[in-house]
Amino acid sequence: MHQQASTTRTRLLGISGSIRSQSNCTAVLRSLQALLPDSTSIELFPLNEIPLYNADLDGAAPPAAVAELKQAISQAHGLVVCSPEYNYGMPGVLKNAIDWASRPAFASPLKGKPALVMTASPGSAGGVRAQAQIRDAFAATLARPVVRQHVAIANVAAQISDGRLVHQPTLDFVKLALDDLLAEIALLGGTGS
Ligand SMILES: Cc1cc2nc3c(=O)[nH]c(=O)nc-3n(C[C@H](O)[C@H](O)[C@H](O)COP(=O)(O)O)c2cc1C
Repeated sequence: MHQQASTTRTRLLGISGSIRSQSNCTAVLRSLQALLPDSTSIELFPLNEIPLYNADLDGAAPPAAVAELKQAISQAHGLVVCSPEYNYGMPGVLKNAIDWASRPAFASPLKGKPALVMTASPGSAGGVRAQAQIRDAFAATLARPVVRQHVAIANVAAQISDGRLVHQPTLDFVKLALDDLLAEIALLGGTGS
């Protein structure tokens, strides 16, 4: 389902809160490899195939897409989320994936995982209201949302061209956020630098 993992030293997993084909958030994530050092790779995990959370199905053999998501999170040194805001909050698609990935409670693949949280919106607030919810949900899983200035990309549609983020000031700001994520990974004993 997800793209082939690379063998470079630091692996990041990109998760978009939008599953539509022309998603601005996915376009942002698709633009990040160019901002990373050669020693770091990022692959995207699309959430299209993740079913609605059902505790009846959540055991030793969860649905295949869920098992793949949890494995991808386990194998990554850090996560990069970019999500839209829906009705002032986090899209159900993303919350649903976090819920699946969060089990078993407090001992899931998310525990201790550094996570850079970004939001993007065609509107002027950049999805910042959803960002607070995403950070809170990650905190509930014992993941480690990176503490830094929020990356909330306003007017994102105007900054995308050919499926890539092209607005240089935003790219510069996002690069600083990625640097912070890699520093956090290094601090935790990963291979972030
Ligand atoms: C159901 C729904 C609710 C939305 N609510 C908000 C909102 O509260 N704030 C906002 O900035 N944009 C809102 N939008 C607009 C989205 O930010 C916009 O559709 C965005 O491009 C979706 O992200 P994507 O391009 O990555 O798919 C909403 C869109 C939908 C479909």
